[in-house]
Amino acid sequence: MTAPWWQSGVIYQIYPRSFQDGNGDGMGDLRGIGQRLDYLAGLGIDAIWISPIYPSPMVDFGYDVADYRDIDPRFGTLADFDALLTHAHARGIRVLLDFVPNHSSDRHPWFVESRSSRENPKRDWYLWRDAAADGGPPNNWVSDFGGSAWEWDEATGQYYYHAFLKEQPDLNWRNPAVQAAMYDVMRFWFDRGVDGFRIDVLWHLIKAEVFPDNPPNAAYHPALGDMHRVLQLHSTDQPEVHAIAAEMRAIADSYGSAGRGERVLIGEIYLPVDRLMHYYGRERPEMHLPFNFQLIEAVWEARALATLIATYEAALPPGGWPNWVLGNHDRPRVAARHGQAQARVAAMLLLTLRGTPTLYYADELGMSDVPIPLEQMRDPRGLREPGLGLGRDPVRTPMSWDGSAHAGFSTVEPWLPLNSDWPARNVARMMTDPASILLLYHQLLAVRRAHPALAIGDFALLASDGDVLAYERREGAQRLIVALNLGGRRQRLQLPREATGCRSLLSTIGAAPLIENDVLLLRADEGVILAA
Ligand code: GLC
Repeated sequence: MTAPWWQSGVIYQIYPRSFQDGNGDGMGDLRGIGQRLDYLAGLGIDAIWISPIYPSPMVDFGYDVADYRDIDPRFGTLADFDALLTHAHARGIRVLLDFVPNHSSDRHPWFVESRSSRENPKRDWYLWRDAAADGGPPNNWVSDFGGSAWEWDEATGQYYYHAFLKEQPDLNWRNPAVQAAMYDVMRFWFDRGVDGFRIDVLWHLIKAEVFPDNPPNAAYHPALGDMHRVLQLHSTDQPEVHAIAAEMRAIADSYGSAGRGERVLIGEIYLPVDRLMHYYGRERPEMHLPFNFQLIEAVWEARALATLIATYEAALPPGGWPNWVLGNHDRPRVAARHGQAQARVAAMLLLTLRGTPTLYYADELGMSDVPIPLEQMRDPRGLREPGLGLGRDPVRTPMSWDGSAHAGFSTVEPWLPLNSDWPARNVARMMTDPASILLLYHQLLAVRRAHPALAIGDFALLASDGDVLAYERREGAQRLIVALNLGGRRQRLQLPREATGCRSLLSTIGAAPLIENDVLLLRADEGVILAA
């Protein structure tokens, strides 16, 4: 296979606080991840992306960075990180870090200086503006976590802008000194050997220069959350962001393809498909993979999925490589959205579509959202607008490894509660149950690895009727058919003529697929992969 690793490979997202505690404080850490590398290698993934591990006051659990070039002591040390990198690479696992360039922590020395006086040389590293004529905020922009995105600084008599919490001031990316400092941060980690970055809220980096009011959102309803009061027309996705994304790419590319292959950049971008595509780069290359989050919000219906896939495929620029995501640390888990039976079908979809898949830790266990009582809620997103169900704690709960105390995650009470079904839903137990979703994931990843048609082959839709979604993947002489039953009733699929006599590679329900002549009979919630 000649495709670069980030096209043929599979990425696994680790939320480090919740993966494995290695020092007995109830929180996951780098040593813990190191202890689980054999698990990850056995699962068959190619790269891990670790959510932020830098020194941080943890107001937004690490997405508020106080030092871009170190490791938070709660996660370990730089030496621990280097050791993890070495051990991961020894197993053929690449390591991607989370780069958070849009904002720092308000405790970052840059911001401490910036707010110290209007004359400070770092004043212009952040976005300071005078009050409006009435003394209120400079414009109507709303924080993604609710409330005005402007915070008044009494001492210097100006407002500063924060797209998220007031403890996360936005950096001024129009300032060349900020750009240079942040590019140096990327080099710092590339020099240490990291294989790439997932770039946090990339489309937020540049705001309209004169800070015009955002237009009101006609579709706003209070249940959606305060951030939806206005459309983020002027506060995000400005044309000048693309030069920055291209510069980041040039830095990644300057590390060449020596040794382990290309360094990869993945952009976190929540935008409609046509705008998302710009982040592949039009004049110069930008992101290798602008995250495609559509499956997270998709209507679970064959025709809707088929349209979504076709529209996305058609919108890709020449050479643009697709990617798919079922869940992450910000969104409800796939098992919570679609139930256990369809979580298996969704796994087959994710791992057989054309494009790089990103798995979210514990989705391979079929972990669902864990209800978190108000008094145990930790996520500021949930706490700032309680009652709307916006909190992200339920999707960030500890990985359950075995039947021992605290599910083998920690030796003490974990920072967030375990899933209540952990005595059955844990790695050790599921590894011995041939019907478990964990072993289905193992099989899917093995079939994918053994078949270039799945990893890098062409895609063609075969059917999208009622609850049946079927497509084929083809590479050279290899031709695979994937047929998914998205519902709980039996379905029939007329197989293409060339597929008669095809061989079954895998069924999500673990039984031999039923094929009568040229008709595939799909059982309830069954997905199958056939080799034609
Ligand atoms: C991204 C992260 C999210 C974080 C936000 C602010 O959306 O995924 O967890 O809260 O950025 O950094």
